[in-house]
Amino acid sequence: MRIAFFDTHRFDRAAFEEANAAFGHALTWFEPRLTLQTVGLAAGFPGVCSFVNDRLDGPCLQALAAGGTRLVALRSAGFNHVDLAEAARLGLTVVRVPEYSPQAVAEHTAALVLALNRKVHRAYARVREWNFSLDGLVGFDLHGKTVALVGLGRIGRATARIFHGFGCRLLAVDPQLKEEDARGLHLEPVALPEALARADILSLHVPLTPGTRHLIDAAALARMKPGAMLINTGRGALIDSQALLAALKSGHLGAAGLDVYEEEEGVFFQDLSGQVLQDDVLARLLTFPNVLITAHQAFLTREALGAIARTTLESIRRFERGEPLDATEVRAEQVLPR
Ligand code: NAI
Repeated sequence: MRIAFFDTHRFDRAAFEEANAAFGHALTWFEPRLTLQTVGLAAGFPGVCSFVNDRLDGPCLQALAAGGTRLVALRSAGFNHVDLAEAARLGLTVVRVPEYSPQAVAEHTAALVLALNRKVHRAYARVREWNFSLDGLVGFDLHGKTVALVGLGRIGRATARIFHGFGCRLLAVDPQLKEEDARGLHLEPVALPEALARADILSLHVPLTPGTRHLIDAAALARMKPGAMLINTGRGALIDSQALLAALKSGHLGAAGLDVYEEEEGVFFQDLSGQVLQDDVLARLLTFPNVLITAHQAFLTREALGAIARTTLESIRRFERGEPLDATEVRAEQVLPR
């Protein structure tokens, strides 16, 4: 099948080209993100493959359908950037990669916690300047601390196993979590307010939906234990960034590790090092010594990239042959209302 790839980067192009040897699809690479402004590039392609910061809103989907596209293959687990109701109305099939390597994201979550706690990011910069002082680098033992996980799907569970290994006490916020699963993973199920009040570290692993947008707002931040650490490898808009700034400025929040940011679209995945950063909230967040930001790279392992490519190319083959798409198909009813 002829597929137009948008927002392509060297890392995913290499993984897809290698995996495609077994599929033989015709892949065309476009660097721009897929938006209403760039959708013309997709004209005549029966399939498009899109990434997390493309904007598949109603007008963009309408233009895709008008240009002859029938399949939208998301090379991501998240699908919050697609107007699924409009896709259904237009008869566009949407597929995603529901699971590629939960471990990749869970391990990056642990990397953020460890780096922030033991101040590895600061120590690295210091030692390179031949400053071997330890002042200001005091961390805490993870052993015995309380880690709250919000969302116990594939990634939340992989994260739970890691922190259990560190000897942490684990709280779980997820209405879908079964009692026997909680027991098996050493999790204590609690509601969000209790998790906020008790956690030394709170980590977000829920999808972004109308119901989870700004799940961590000013009120939630105020409920957190003073000095606690907040980690987000889910989606940026799970946290109200302005409220996060205020909680950091006041000193109430101890640290924040972010792999995603509410306004990352058009910023993350780009080299803007020669430019003036226009996002004042992001610029301010980057000034805190107790904030560590990575640019949506939690998924970025060789294993994950290979699995994303194989699952996506297999879904495209199945669509082309009219075979069932099973768990990779995304439907409008999967988005829970607030
Ligand atoms: P999943 O679908 O396996 O699990 C999500 C869990 O969240 C489910 O158990 C569900 O019951 C729970 N949940 C939904 N709403 C909730 C709420 N309001 N409160 C508590 N729990 C709630 O998803 P998976 O694979 O674990 O991924 C989670 C999210 O991580 C994705 O939706 C995606 O946005 C993000 N992600 C980020 C990546 C990165 O590179 N930073 C890579 C992959 C995923």
